[in-house]
Amino acid sequence: EKGTYPHFMLKEIDEQPFVMRKIIQEYQNESDQIKLDEGVRNAMKACDRVYIIAAGTSYHAGLIGKEMLEKVAEVPTEVHIASEFSYNMPLLSEKPLFIFISQSGETADLRAVLVEIKKLGHPSITMTNVPGSTLSREATHTLHLLAGPEIAVASTKAYTAQLAVLTILAVDTAQAKGIELGFDPLKELAIVGNAMEALCDQKDQFEKIAYQFLYTTRNCFFIGRGMDYHVALEGALKLKEISYIQAEGFAGGELKHGTIALIEEGTPVIALSTQEHVNNLIRSNVQEVEARGANVCMITREGLERPGDDVVIQDVHPLLAPLVTVLPLQLMAYYAALHRNCDVDKPRNLAKSVTVE
Ligand code: M6R
Repeated sequence: EKGTYPHFMLKEIDEQPFVMRKIIQEYQNESDQIKLDEGVRNAMKACDRVYIIAAGTSYHAGLIGKEMLEKVAEVPTEVHIASEFSYNMPLLSEKPLFIFISQSGETADLRAVLVEIKKLGHPSITMTNVPGSTLSREATHTLHLLAGPEIAVASTKAYTAQLAVLTILAVDTAQAKGIELGFDPLKELAIVGNAMEALCDQKDQFEKIAYQFLYTTRNCFFIGRGMDYHVALEGALKLKEISYIQAEGFAGGELKHGTIALIEEGTPVIALSTQEHVNNLIRSNVQEVEARGANVCMITREGLERPGDDVVIQDVHPLLAPLVTVLPLQLMAYYAALHRNCDVDKPRNLAKSVTVE
């Protein structure tokens, strides 16, 4: 039930701080350490490479999961679009481990891959929001997202839950391998929950930004570098899916290789900068598009902000910044769809779970 909310999507965006707390609670033992299924832990230790398989928003979560697994746990990781993988399987390592990321646990493109890799005898983990779903039953292990039912077609709280569980998985694997980490992941996730809450309390601001940048536009670009690039892809998907604005996310450095030709007077560009080592670079990309007339909305993190930035999220661990920066993008997409009279929860041509290949 959506209660007093006009749409499920808005309710589900608002639930994200609560979902963070739920995940922390469920993945924590009595001594405040990570509690994880032994089978999952052993599978992570035994593999020589992880293959993440997913679609849509879950694929975007996988892109960030790769960075976490490689940077935190030193596990080589590849991320693949499910529908591409099944019919163009790459060369596999000797001891691959497959991670299927799926809110619904029913996506047919993922199931096709699972069937193939099971024939080859490879182990798998399904990360899903629906215990008992097909992908969960058929994989070797399951990791629960604990986001609660997600009804709106546009995925929001499942995405941030995926990122939180991927963080926990990466940190647990690092600890099992004896890698020293300089941070407590569960504490950091609690800080993320607070930062999300602060954004949920600023909805008026995002409604205004959506009105200013997106009310009448034909198209919109999202730019970032590194992790922020992956969030840019998700921001673009959210916007196009529910507001039907043609949106594209790309890596800031790629602008000069083609896309900048599309920038005109007034073109909205949403820029993300939460990673210190590329802050200067993305800001020079912003100057390049502004010089061609773009209308730039800058989203950054405390400590990296500059005068004139539009949204400054609280200071969270840089690896976890995507969990927070995606909220303004979700809210902007929501309000853009609302202002443009679109059916927010049930966008045209789309189904909540895609059970055909
Ligand atoms: O249930 P799944 O996570 O497997 O679904 C994958 C995609 O169909 C899904 O994320 C889709 O892209 C969403 N509508 C995006 O908001």
